[in-house]
Amino acid sequence: MDLGFKGKVALVTGAGSQIGFGKAIALLLAKEGCDAIVVNDINLDDAQKTVNAVKALGRKAIAIKADITKKSEVQEMVKKALAEYKKIDILANVAGAILGTGPFADQKEELWDKEMALNFKGTMLVTQAVIPGMVAQKYGKIINISSGSVRAAFGVSTYSIAKGAVEIFTHHLAKGVIKDGINVNCVSPGWALTNFIKGDKQEAEKRFLPSTPIGRGTTPEDIANAVAFFASDMSSDVCGQILDVTGGSTL
Ligand SMILES: NC(=O)c1ccc[n+]([C@@H]2O[C@H](COP(=O)([O-])OP(=O)(O)OC[C@H]3O[C@@H](n4cnc5c(N)ncnc54)[C@H](O)[C@@H]3O)[C@@H](O)[C@H]2O)c1
Repeated sequence: MDLGFKGKVALVTGAGSQIGFGKAIALLLAKEGCDAIVVNDINLDDAQKTVNAVKALGRKAIAIKADITKKSEVQEMVKKALAEYKKIDILANVAGAILGTGPFADQKEELWDKEMALNFKGTMLVTQAVIPGMVAQKYGKIINISSGSVRAAFGVSTYSIAKGAVEIFTHHLAKGVIKDGINVNCVSPGWALTNFIKGDKQEAEKRFLPSTPIGRGTTPEDIANAVAFFASDMSSDVCGQILDVTGGSTL
């Protein structure tokens, strides 16, 4: 099946984690025909490892270190990517993390700000930097990553609230830019044993399994498959959708 990736350039944020969603997305897009992948992460060594894996598939790739919460770093990243490959056709906004939890009354304002910056504002900053080029070429695919936790209500978690904002951002932006040939959609993952889950992974698995109908965690490949659909020309008429990839845990 031709997904329309030939000659395309993709930027994937948070693609340094060697067991994370971003790397799996970068590799699948490369495997399915993208010409070049811009691998972003706050950790340059890890991003470089993903670059090496993409190159091993015979595609082009560069690693760019940038903190997606910092506008100047984001703008510099997009400038570098455009200088290298002239365009960005696909943007996967993947970088994110839970920074804190705990009872609402004890939560610190500084943590709210950091949590919102990483999990919501960063996605807006990268998207805003990439959009002008997509509008100019009348083509673009933007895929945001939210979380099944938006609908699971584990207490007041700024992380989940920030990811809810990502979903609303997806709806609002999608309607505005579809006329410019840009599709904006969102994948909402279930729990996955990546570096996102801190502490004992087996303990986490035991906690989550009972509420997961499929009987396993979500894999990076599950997420990459969904992102590839939204990044492809198979979904040209799909606009502003949130796709739960959660093995039924959000039903
Ligand atoms: N794994 C899960 O259970 C799960 C579930 C739902 C949603 N998600 C979301 O999926 C996305 C990917 O998570 P993952 O599971 O691959 O986690 P991961 O921790 O394995 O990878 C996240 C990557 O983001 C990078 N990163 C962190 N802060 C950054 C910043 N400021 N700028 C640039 N890069 C930064 C990290 O260095 C890391 O390489 C995140 O947005 C996360 O919130 C994960």
